[in-house]
Amino acid sequence: LVDAALQSLAREVGLEAARFVAASRPEGRVQVAATKSSPTDAVTEIDRACEALVRERILAARPDDGFVGEEGDDVPGATGVEWVVDPIDGTVNFVYGIPEYAVSIAARRDGRVVAGHVVNVVSGEEWGAVAGAGAWRHVGDDRRMLRAPAPESVAHALVGTGFHYRRELREKQGPAVARLLPHVRDIRRTGSAALNLCWLAEGRLDVFVEQGLGPWDLAAGGLVAAESGMLLAGLTDGPDERLVMAAHPAIAEEYFALVRACGF
Ligand code: IPD
Repeated sequence: LVDAALQSLAREVGLEAARFVAASRPEGRVQVAATKSSPTDAVTEIDRACEALVRERILAARPDDGFVGEEGDDVPGATGVEWVVDPIDGTVNFVYGIPEYAVSIAARRDGRVVAGHVVNVVSGEEWGAVAGAGAWRHVGDDRRMLRAPAPESVAHALVGTGFHYRRELREKQGPAVARLLPHVRDIRRTGSAALNLCWLAEGRLDVFVEQGLGPWDLAAGGLVAAESGMLLAGLTDGPDERLVMAAHPAIAEEYFALVRACGF
C-alpha cells in the first residue's frame, strides 16, 4: 500500500514534469547549456529546470525523503525512501527533436527500487510498476498489466542498446555490438534507456544490454521490465559494474553468456 502511494506520487509528478518539458521545448534544435562526462554528454536548461520542479514537488509531498537526480540536485533523506530521477532521459533526442525522450521517476526504499513511473514526453505513453505488484501501461485512466512475451530464440531477438558518452567505454562498446550483430535479429539504439526498458515489458524489444548507465537511467524502467517478468543481470558493482543485461527467462542464460562472450 505504501509503495503504491509512492507510485501514485511518481505518476502525478511525472505527468506534470512531462507537460513542463513539452511546453518548454522551443522549435528546432534545443541549445546545449553544458556538457558533463564528455564533450558529447549534453545537458540543457530544461533538464535542470525539470529536475528542480520534480524535486520541489516530491519534497513538498514528502519533505524528509532523499533525492538523487541526474543533474545533481541531491538531498540526503531521513526516512529510508530516496527518489531517483532522470528529468529527461534521452537528452540528445530532446536536443535534436527526435520524439523519444522521457521523464523517469523511481522511489528506492532502503536501497531497493520499489516504485517507478516513466512518461514519454511526446507520445504521452506511460508505464508504471510497484515491486511485487506488477508492471503496467496506462491507457487513459486504465491500466493494462504487462507480461513480457518470450522470444523464439536468441537468434530471433531484437536487441536494444545504448552507448556511454565516455570515449573509453565507446571504444569497447562499438566492437562488442559488432560482434553481437550476427547472432541476433537486429539491434536498435533509440536513445533512451528508460524507454527501452519499458519497451521490453511491451515486447517492442526482446533483450537489452548497456554498460555505464546511471541509476537514474535505470531505476524506473528497470523495475517496469523486472515486474513484467524480464530477468535483469549485472546491476551490482563488481567486475561488470553497471553492465545491464535484460532478457526473458526463456533465453536469459544463453543471451547473457553471448553478451559476455562479445566483450561488453
Ligand atoms: C542516456 C540515455 C541513453 C543511454 C545513455 C544515457 P540521458 O541518458 O538513456 O539511451 O545510452 O547511456 O546516459 O543522458 O539522456 O539522460
